[in-house]
Amino acid sequence: MISALMGVKNVFSALPFGALRRQNAGSSTEGPVVLSTWDFGRKANQEAWSTLEKGGSVLDAVEAGVRVIEADPNNSSVGYGGFPDREGKVTLDACIMDADGNCGGVCFLEDIMHPISVARKVMENTPHVLLAGEGAREFALSQGFSRENLLTPKARDAWKEWKKESLYKTEINRERHDTIGMVAMDAKGRLAGACTTSGLSFKLRGRVGDSPIIGAGLYVDGEVGAAAATGLGEAVIKTAGTFLVVELMRQGMSPAEACEEAVMRIVRKQDYRDFQVCFLALNAAGEHGAFSIHPGFTYVLTRNGEHEMLNADSFIKKGE
Ligand code: GLY
Repeated sequence: MISALMGVKNVFSALPFGALRRQNAGSSTEGPVVLSTWDFGRKANQEAWSTLEKGGSVLDAVEAGVRVIEADPNNSSVGYGGFPDREGKVTLDACIMDADGNCGGVCFLEDIMHPISVARKVMENTPHVLLAGEGAREFALSQGFSRENLLTPKARDAWKEWKKESLYKTEINRERHDTIGMVAMDAKGRLAGACTTSGLSFKLRGRVGDSPIIGAGLYVDGEVGAAAATGLGEAVIKTAGTFLVVELMRQGMSPAEACEEAVMRIVRKQDYRDFQVCFLALNAAGEHGAFSIHPGFTYVLTRNGEHEMLNADSFIKKGE
């Protein structure tokens, strides 16, 4: 059985807009709605909501929302300020997708503050889906992006500290936040999603996680719904995580059930004890859900201009 969804930790308000929506978290049936990972998703949702209020598209909204986190030097797992790889270089992964299956991504991208916007340019200005490394950077520069140093003093200090032992683990600390994944629906029911990260701290140079990979870190199907993932990318890729969540919703599962089943696929096949994976999802009816392996996954739901910080249910219960 699927357990009760979550407890509300915090609610605050902004100006509502558009038609009146039902308030009931988890069972609302209309947009606009914005959903994003972790407590830092609140700032991202505020920006996404304000973009929708100003008449921006849902794709504009998800891009604008996650850009806030990419530019935050205090966030050590996304964009500027992200912890570097084992060579001390910050490398970024991101992707974006709309309801019609249009999508773009960049991976192993260096020196560019907003990989999500480069991903959108890949989607809109090239016949490709994913650009990597030096080619992705050259493409970004050709599109007018500036070259910037993304390694903050705090991230450099953390890397120097790590180098003292240079312990290499693919473990993602359960308490540490990572990717920002956002899925959203506008007032007309159009869906879009965005996902961006600096990936695993002190990773092997060249390592790419789930976040730039369509169907792993993010998937959107306008007829069914959208899903985003956070946590250990390798585990998400192995199970085509967000594609799976959307396909399970297509087969009739609620977003919460689909997220739980996708987590259970990982739990059944992988040694999940030392890593976290979390999914969140929104279906075409505007219902949302989330589920994680370990407790502690927070996410933010925005409806009617109200931002609710929620705790996802998990396979391992708190205290176990
Ligand atoms: N989910 C982020 C990563 O594994 O890179």
